[in-house]
Amino acid sequence: MRTAAPLSSSSSRHALRMPLRLERDKARRLAAAIGAPTGVGLAHDRLVRFGECGCGYSCAAALSRVIVGGALQYSVTGGRRTRLHIVGSRLVCKLALVTGASRGIGLAITKTLAARGANLLLAYTSDSSAASTATLAAELASKHSIKVIPVKADLSTVAGPDSLIAQATAAFSPLRIDILVNNAGVAYNDNVTDINPDDFHRTYDINVLGPLLLVKAVVPFLPTDRSGRIINLSSVSSSMGFVGQSVYGGSKAALEAMTRTWARELSERCTVNAVNPGPVRSEMYSRNSDEFKKLIKPFIQNAPLMAAREGIDPPEVVEDAKTSGGRAGEAEEVAGIVAMLAGPDSAWCTGQVICANGGMIFGMQ
Ligand SMILES: NC(=O)c1ccc[n+]([C@@H]2O[C@H](COP(=O)([O-])OP(=O)(O)OC[C@H]3O[C@@H](n4cnc5c(N)ncnc54)[C@H](OP(=O)(O)O)[C@@H]3O)[C@@H](O)[C@H]2O)c1
Repeated sequence: MRTAAPLSSSSSRHALRMPLRLERDKARRLAAAIGAPTGVGLAHDRLVRFGECGCGYSCAAALSRVIVGGALQYSVTGGRRTRLHIVGSRLVCKLALVTGASRGIGLAITKTLAARGANLLLAYTSDSSAASTATLAAELASKHSIKVIPVKADLSTVAGPDSLIAQATAAFSPLRIDILVNNAGVAYNDNVTDINPDDFHRTYDINVLGPLLLVKAVVPFLPTDRSGRIINLSSVSSSMGFVGQSVYGGSKAALEAMTRTWARELSERCTVNAVNPGPVRSEMYSRNSDEFKKLIKPFIQNAPLMAAREGIDPPEVVEDAKTSGGRAGEAEEVAGIVAMLAGPDSAWCTGQVICANGGMIFGMQ
């Protein structure tokens, strides 16, 4: 969690010049009352949200100091129900829709966004994920004082995205989706001579048509001030030519192409970026055959951050690295990069494929 730091006088002046209707006097008074350093600049992007953040709570009563994890933070509590706004947690009062939130990378993204204060819609599809997603929602809501709603839809169907929006509208009114993470995905490996058209259609329905129709469904609910964020989970497979991944790699290349088009088409509403993990420890990765792992071993061996470290990485990771060539990424390592793109500090980045793969792509150049 970030510590709220005093702004320099020049950034404070910049904050005052911003063409937002800042509640400056209120901010100054509240900040001065608790001795917050250069309070207006420090807190302005939270304080302007009083009463208009759409978080479902009535905000605005008191600003106070709290110590979180040994670090000084500034919080706002008040209204009908006390709600903690931690200044410095940059996603407070935002609403994020994460697909594939039930497991793997999506689960880590969900936890990271929750820790930064975002309210969440957790999308999943399998009956087997229902209970764990409901438990996760309850835990995150209680731990971070946020609103977290599980939503179920099959994103391989044309009706899936609209169904997610209907469930979102029932939970958050008026609905504003600040952040969309298109994370749900599948991978079926086969060499071109063995390709089964059904696998092609299933892969493209989930990995390509699903995000496309979900973005279409989300557009009416995006912010209108460019503060929205769409982040698509691609893969190094889009550019590495991995044997057996003509279908999966092609689907991720399509997602990257759509990322660039959406970055232009939606530029008044949001930024649109993709991240491209390499191997990440998850159910998807564990399903890879030994033959496939042998084929990607040289790529792993050349990735600067994938060398396993005895005494630092878990013993099973160090052991696995002896045959796989190195350690896979951890879901949290990808989630941190997604959260970075989701925040206000990434406003000048759009249409990009951000490498989140321990240097695997650069390692092969
Ligand atoms: N793991 C890796 O090594 C790796 C590497 C590069 C890129 N990626 C990408 O990262 C993303 C997440 O991968 P992961 O490893 O975390 O996958 P995972 O552990 O296999 O989880 C897949 C997630 O997608 C959801 N999902 C699958 N089919 C769906 C459908 N028809 N409708 C809605 N949701 C569906 C699942 O929901 P249920 O739980 O409800 O089934 C689950 O939450 C994927 O896009 C993947 O391509 C992964």
